[in-house]
Amino acid sequence: MKKAILFSLFSLGVMAQNSISIIPKPLSIIEGKSKFIVDQNTKIVVTKDAEDAMEVAEQLALRIKIVKSKAPEIVNEANSNSIKFTKNTNLPLEGYELLVNQKGVTISASSAIGYFYGFQSLLQLMPTEIFSASVNSNLKLTIPECIIKDNPRFEYRGVMLDVGRYFFPITYIKKLIDVLALNKMNTLHLHLTEDQGWRIEIKKYPKLTEIGSIRKESMLGHYRDQKYDGKPHGGFYTQDEIRDLVAYAQKKFVTIVPEIEMPGHALAALASYPELGCTGETYEVGTKWGVEQRVFCPTEKTFSFLEDVLTEVIDLFPSKYIHIGGDECPKNTWKASAFCQELIKKEGLKDEHELQSYFIRRIDKFVTSKGRKIIGWDEILEGGLSPNATVMSWRGTTGGIEAAKQKHDVIMTPNSYVYLDYYQSDPASEPIAIGGFLPLQKTYSYEPIPTELSLEEAKYIKGVQANLWTEYVSTPEHADYMLFPRALAVAEIGWSDKTKSYENFTKRLMVHLERLKFMSVNYSNAFIDVNYTFSKDSKNLPTLSLSTVVPSYIIRYTLDGSQPNEKSMIFDPSKKINISQDRNISSAVFNKFGERISNITTKSFVISKSTGKSYILENDPKKYLGGEKYALTNGIRGDVNNNEPWVGFEGKNLNLTLDLGEKMAFSSVSLAFMSAYSSWIMSPLNVEILISNDNKTFSPIKKIELRKSVSLESSVQQLNISLDTQNARFVKIKAENYGPLPEGHPGVGKPSWLFVDEISVR
Ligand code: ACM
Repeated sequence: MKKAILFSLFSLGVMAQNSISIIPKPLSIIEGKSKFIVDQNTKIVVTKDAEDAMEVAEQLALRIKIVKSKAPEIVNEANSNSIKFTKNTNLPLEGYELLVNQKGVTISASSAIGYFYGFQSLLQLMPTEIFSASVNSNLKLTIPECIIKDNPRFEYRGVMLDVGRYFFPITYIKKLIDVLALNKMNTLHLHLTEDQGWRIEIKKYPKLTEIGSIRKESMLGHYRDQKYDGKPHGGFYTQDEIRDLVAYAQKKFVTIVPEIEMPGHALAALASYPELGCTGETYEVGTKWGVEQRVFCPTEKTFSFLEDVLTEVIDLFPSKYIHIGGDECPKNTWKASAFCQELIKKEGLKDEHELQSYFIRRIDKFVTSKGRKIIGWDEILEGGLSPNATVMSWRGTTGGIEAAKQKHDVIMTPNSYVYLDYYQSDPASEPIAIGGFLPLQKTYSYEPIPTELSLEEAKYIKGVQANLWTEYVSTPEHADYMLFPRALAVAEIGWSDKTKSYENFTKRLMVHLERLKFMSVNYSNAFIDVNYTFSKDSKNLPTLSLSTVVPSYIIRYTLDGSQPNEKSMIFDPSKKINISQDRNISSAVFNKFGERISNITTKSFVISKSTGKSYILENDPKKYLGGEKYALTNGIRGDVNNNEPWVGFEGKNLNLTLDLGEKMAFSSVSLAFMSAYSSWIMSPLNVEILISNDNKTFSPIKKIELRKSVSLESSVQQLNISLDTQNARFVKIKAENYGPLPEGHPGVGKPSWLFVDEISVR
């Protein structure tokens, strides 16, 4: 890993506070002044009508035993000094009421899961040491007086772990289940099959694990580096292990949703059983990340195989949902296959998209016949949605909106908010990740009900899920680091009321992280990193404010990009930093002992003749607006690390006329383009500069043809265009959009995005 510091837990220096800090935030809390203390004589009561609380009561007794060495006795009656579980059939399935006074605790619920969630809140009312794995005889189990009424907003609250790209041991998955349950998440989606590995034993097809679970090597560094580690990677779960895992999860009220990916991302299966492909060739388990062209062929042999596999999977997993993947299935192999073309004709299908839809419909019919429901990524909408399908909306929210309008259930997992494989802070200070930029605050800001839906349609949004893809995450420690605390934000989005505050969340989070530390979770502190807020001075030049989540922390910074240390300038929150020349500002958070407790992050500013100047755009940008009206001349440079400043055009050219305010001399124009193949962002074909003094007649000055290049991950192309010295007031800058996405791209034929930022004229 890049920086050792990331994998040692910073000591944030915040002590557990007295105020109640429960994540996810309960529906209502009334705090009292008194308290209840669990002592040697405290009993756990399970009333006669609450037999279904017994399992939960035993878990509570065990937790207390682990830290106090003695478990409270479980009885069915006691008048005081007790923690009582009792039935209230008026409460909703997952809801509970928790009442604490001097005499004891009462948890009421209508179901076992309600008791369990009451128990999770009770643990979070106790000192954080209750989560310790060792005896602490001095620990006083004090519980503040309160009344909590609680019930989740959404019925589905999940996390997906991709165990296909890298195998994760059962012990880690169990720990993850513990953390999910603590945060009242009820679903763990396991992505069990991939191009790079098949991870579940299937009795009828032993080669799936004999061959398909091992790849000869893995990619090292970024995809663009095309380097490999030369080390085999493998692993799979036996059916006995799966049964044990499912039973473990059931005790914590977590449903495991298995995913068997089809028709794409199936190379490991093809390597095991090549007859399931279209071409008769042989295959190797994948070693390259990305979108694989070689996919299942929709033959009867493939359907029998998949039905056999699903039969075993359905026997192992009691989940209502069976995930069948469905994403990123390129159609080239099917286009070239005589069999597929024949099938398209025979079934009266329009094209390969309808063939994919035919594929999914057949699987839907089979899964439905087994009393389960298919769920798939939003590509299953293409070519027509299968009757019983639930959609997981990952390419933003469009798929979710469309599915809800078609009256299909939806789980929201938009990459722009809940793809936890994305960077959570400045990539320069983070372990290598797939790309993107998704700090905790952005994840927390997600609202799962799209404004495009009516009240009636909104009912089809069943919940949210955070996804952790693991191309760049090979160890449990790193998975923890990517998941937490961002998955806690998703837990709160799924459970809590819509009205929430990030400031309040982070206050509770500081306490909650102590619990995670006791549970040996290697969470990230990147959310402490300095937050940069921009504004403008009277000359339209940028000014900057720095902040972090805990107001009492100290922020130190440098103006020359050097590493801030305990002697660097302190940011004064009552002032702003003025920027009147090119700067690389680096900053970090320090505690009162002078120890750095955050990553160092850097922002770049380019100040030139065009900074703060206005311009007009012939084509409007969409969705990516650079944060403000004159984002292309605001002095803030977009980089791979920082999505915010970029201005994006969908399928359109950049055609910008800059007004320098008066005629002036200049001899260069600089600007940058982002490209990111997997995010449909392509670099332009050419760039042209024209000038004018009357804003009517423009003279061409220079045109540059760019190489048609493809970058799988985010990269930035900085263009510095030298000119003979020019004298003009208006500068027109044109850049031609790449055009439709190329063959082999999962969005082939659809418009590509052009991403531009900071223009500087010198
Ligand atoms: C996905 O991220 N390909 C579902």
